[in-house]
Amino acid sequence: MNLPLTYDEIYHYSLTHPEEFWAEQARQIPWFNAPEQILSTDAAGLTRWFAGGRLNTCYAALDYQVETGRADQPALIYDSPVTQTIRQFTYRELRDEVAQLAGALQTLGVGKGDTVVIYMPMIPETAFAMLACARLGAVHSVVFGGFAPRELAIRIDDTQPKIVLSASCGIEFTTVIPYKPLLDDALQQATHQPDHCLIYQRPQCHADLKSGRDHDWQDLVSEAQSVDCVEVDATDPLYILYTSGTTGKPKGIVRDNGGHAVALHYSMRTIYNLQPGQVMFTASDFGWAVGHSYSVYGPLLRGCTSIILEGKPVRTPNAGTFWRIVQTYRVNVLFTAPTSFRAIKKEDPNAQFSRQYDLSTLQAVFVAGERCDPPTLNWLQEIVKVPVIDHWWQTESGWPMVANSMGIEPLPIKPGSATKPVCGYDLQILDEDGQRLGPNEMGLVCLKLPLPPGCLPSLWNDDERFRASYLSRFPGYYLSGDGGYVDEDGYVFIMGRVDDVINVAGHRLSTGEMEELVSSHPAVAECAVVGIACPLRGQRPVGFVVLKDGVLTDEATLETELVALIRNRIGAVAYFKNALLVKRLPKTRSGKILRKILRQIADGETYAVPATIDDPLILDEIRQILINRTIGQAFEDSSASR
Ligand code: COA
Ligand code: AMP
Repeated sequence: MNLPLTYDEIYHYSLTHPEEFWAEQARQIPWFNAPEQILSTDAAGLTRWFAGGRLNTCYAALDYQVETGRADQPALIYDSPVTQTIRQFTYRELRDEVAQLAGALQTLGVGKGDTVVIYMPMIPETAFAMLACARLGAVHSVVFGGFAPRELAIRIDDTQPKIVLSASCGIEFTTVIPYKPLLDDALQQATHQPDHCLIYQRPQCHADLKSGRDHDWQDLVSEAQSVDCVEVDATDPLYILYTSGTTGKPKGIVRDNGGHAVALHYSMRTIYNLQPGQVMFTASDFGWAVGHSYSVYGPLLRGCTSIILEGKPVRTPNAGTFWRIVQTYRVNVLFTAPTSFRAIKKEDPNAQFSRQYDLSTLQAVFVAGERCDPPTLNWLQEIVKVPVIDHWWQTESGWPMVANSMGIEPLPIKPGSATKPVCGYDLQILDEDGQRLGPNEMGLVCLKLPLPPGCLPSLWNDDERFRASYLSRFPGYYLSGDGGYVDEDGYVFIMGRVDDVINVAGHRLSTGEMEELVSSHPAVAECAVVGIACPLRGQRPVGFVVLKDGVLTDEATLETELVALIRNRIGAVAYFKNALLVKRLPKTRSGKILRKILRQIADGETYAVPATIDDPLILDEIRQILINRTIGQAFEDSSASR
């Protein structure tokens, strides 16, 4: 009798026999030409998966599903409490929508290898746009609608799109946010100008079109002919997705076609344990990696139904929205960021809403994007009564690196842990010198190369930055930027970033970029921006600012100006609300700002004062400033001790 293999056995095999392991997984997706090589190195010396293979991701996600019997199954369901709309698309309907939009893009000159920027809200047309690009072999780059025009301009200049796709507006709770003025502003700021913009007019807001450049989406699509899928190489890029790094310039994460399709299909089976025909509800914006992988590509590649929500977990109209969706669409797997559940818990601590709905179809709930605090995990567990699975991944990987692989062998859950490395990921904890650490020793979370399929092969047009950011610190390893440890049972605990990246309500942001902007204010001599703990958002940024000599301004005025500056330049999602005036920043004698200590003071953590600090007294002054301004755990602790 053949017993099913355990997680340990399969994981071990995936690392000792990567080519055999991934060749087997690759057989699960439809290729036009099977790969000639499973694992290889390209001319730049970078890892490539499935070279020589030919496929089309849109074909695998749509046409193939139609051809193999899913034509009438719902592929995408759009539930929009903010517009009181529900729209459902079967696989056949979705294929037809996408094929026609692809035809419209083709009339605007888009072809294989061209780049297309998509700046759109949570509407089905955004998914159509992504898939239409994939159909044509064009490379899409979705920009999250919450980013300000300057961020959009940076991405337009880096990707040099042939066209930009946008919509007349997005809707945040009850506020209609016109997108077209933001796009126009971005194009004013950008050096590169696209040939065309295609604008989807929503009934809530009409966008003015610039003659010659802008086109009405609905008009153009209604006149377009459907087009077929274009064959691409497995190693050709499918999309670019920008993510925050440590500087003002975001990193253009590249995703290839072949590795991506194989990895996502594998993850749908073995991590999320979803069968074709089952239903996945991923509550994430299309603008994030989670939205790309598990609202669009993953569920469709697996023949599942994907539910997309235009609205928030709360106040649209109430904290029962997620549970209503689970019942209505008989959702099997729900996936979101812990911050969504913290928001629900805040408004509905006794989970009254959940009791109004039938949640019995749920098999598991997955959370990622930030650490899931054990109280939230336990609260959720009580409600859903199925495994609540915290799992760890990054935009760079595009799919989970550490998880409880429910389709292989569900492992006991340890709150605080993202469970164990996913097959293909050789995770190791290294110290500052690159030495491997043992159980329970905290260090830098690294992945031994090669990374498995689906992970970034490089950064867009920037192999050097790719090497410098991820590969050069410890040769032979990918540096994740997270700190953590592995316990005696092999469970991985991710404890947070070791660099300037923070996570605010599941949105990845760079404090380095915020510092660059704050420093550009004429009154500011220098500053430090750190992410402090926030009960709802996980983290939020706080600025510590030193004024230039002789500048006459008060803290309130400067704070208002700096808050507006970050909001206008990065976006409201940065949630930058506080800029505190300090006499000096804590520094080492060599001039390095001690940002970690600033965060530890705000979070009320104990910290060691380094022997190299130039002025230890400033630490107490800063703590007092935080208390006076009622900010952070430092204030909470001081008020509790009173
Ligand atoms: N377009 C325009 N503005 C946006 C936006 C978008 N797509 N997304 C957020 N914003 C704005 C908000 O309107 C808000 O503006 P305001 O300061 O004028 O009120 C600001 O950015 C901050 O947004 P946020 O931090 O999201 O706060 P919120 O109160 O609107 O919502 C949560 C709080 C927790 C409900 C919400 O952040 C949430 O659902 N988070 C989950 C995120 C997620 O799923 N991430 C995916 C990773 S898995
Ligand atoms: P993003 O690229 O936006 O997906 O953000 C990736 C970062 O989010 C990681 O580097 C981590 O810092 C954090 N993150 C994602 N998932 C988890 C998790 N399950 N636990 C802790 N941190 C996480």
